[in-house]
Amino acid sequence: MEQVLVQVLNLKKHFKDRKRGKVEAVKGISFEAHSGEIFGLLGPNGAGKTTALRMLATILKPTDGTATIAGYDVVTDPDEARRSLGFLSNDTGLYHRLTAREMIVYFGKLYKMTDDVIKQRLDELCEMLDMSEFFNRRCGKLSSGQKQKVSISRTIIHDPPVLILDEPTTGLDVLASRNIVSSIRNARDKGKCVILSTHIMGEAERICDRIGIIHDGIITAIGTVEELFDRFDARELETVFLRAVGETA
Ligand SMILES: Nc1ncnc2c1ncn2[C@@H]1O[C@H](COP(=O)(O)OP(=O)(O)OP(=O)(O)O)[C@@H](O)[C@H]1O
Ligand SMILES: [Mg+2]
Repeated sequence: MEQVLVQVLNLKKHFKDRKRGKVEAVKGISFEAHSGEIFGLLGPNGAGKTTALRMLATILKPTDGTATIAGYDVVTDPDEARRSLGFLSNDTGLYHRLTAREMIVYFGKLYKMTDDVIKQRLDELCEMLDMSEFFNRRCGKLSSGQKQKVSISRTIIHDPPVLILDEPTTGLDVLASRNIVSSIRNARDKGKCVILSTHIMGEAERICDRIGIIHDGIITAIGTVEELFDRFDARELETVFLRAVGETA
């Protein structure tokens, strides 16, 4: 049986903004995701995707509601939750002066992994993400696709059951993004629960087992692509999206 690894219940985040006043970035979203599943949050710029993912990754404290990662509450048990997840943020800062390999080792040590285990994981990751050609090059000299591979590696070095990926392929060319997508599928097939965000309909359709459509801080529909097509009497995700947010298509 699939195990529920991520559970989100009525999660909210309000920001106080000096100019805009109260910003309700996430207005009470609920969903769950399982082991061996890729769940996508699909929505336009400003929909609340990053804010939602940052709450799941224990980086932002929710205004209200709850979320658990592998059963650990992100607010009351953040250390355990953090150990159970890997978070790939939009603006993953890599240290320019470290090589790809050193960067990943550094994160392994932060997770208190032993040298032997780190070495074994390094070999696995290097092969999985096809990094041997640039593994000993400094991060500052890598292309954006190569940097993204290093960022993903450091996100999953400790082999957590839950992966939270904020727009994992944004800015990458077809080949680099294919490589990342196949490693995401690979993780799913090994039983990981992957939560990712994207604003690209085609990507959501291709990669995700289930999709939550998010707009203006609200999840307006959740389902497999087929279920969404059925429910909204549509043949394209774009139509589903427009109908789900209440516009005519
Ligand atoms: N620290 C903050 N203070 C004030 N408002 C914020 C803050 N962070 C995000 N917001 C606002 O919350 C809303 C949701 O932002 P968020 O970054 O979650 O969207 P997103 O779906 O990730 O968009 P994108 O596709 O552009 O990455 C936006 O209106 C944004 O301006
Ligand atoms: Mg974002």
